[in-house]
Amino acid sequence: MDDIKKEGRYSRIYKQLKDLLSRTEDPLARMASVCAVLHHKMDYYFWTGFYLLKEGKLIVGPYQGPVACQELEKDKGVCWAAVNSQAPVLVEDVHAFPDHISCDSRSLSEITVPVFNERGEVMAVFDVDSDQKASFSHIDQRALSEIMSLIFSTE
Ligand code: SME
Repeated sequence: MDDIKKEGRYSRIYKQLKDLLSRTEDPLARMASVCAVLHHKMDYYFWTGFYLLKEGKLIVGPYQGPVACQELEKDKGVCWAAVNSQAPVLVEDVHAFPDHISCDSRSLSEITVPVFNERGEVMAVFDVDSDQKASFSHIDQRALSEIMSLIFSTE
């Protein structure tokens, strides 16, 4: 998908999600809605989901796509990298990421975005895998960071 098409699609999805997510404050319900909308509207999303940070562990939460790892080995892989750096991580080629955790061999590129609560604490990480290389760019990173700010919003 070219950058202009991506920008337009993310902008429409953001508006749709802002409205949808305002109907509940429950973060899990919001996460489920975010996965469903993004997974079905972005054709390069192969796996779309959340890992929840619970008692120092990353445990799978709402997701769409093939069955995934339920718990991620601590401090390994792209999801933990986003949690530990408190910043999004873009991986153009998962095979070039030293300790990438492979839940499905079809995944070739990936983006992870931390999800913060209103106090600025990391509560979860949003993870998208693509079955093509280099699917994600700064456009996905910015748009997804904006969408993630809706999950714990009390506005
Ligand atoms: N690749 C991730 C693991 C989760 S799956 O992609 C669904 C990682 O390296 O943390």
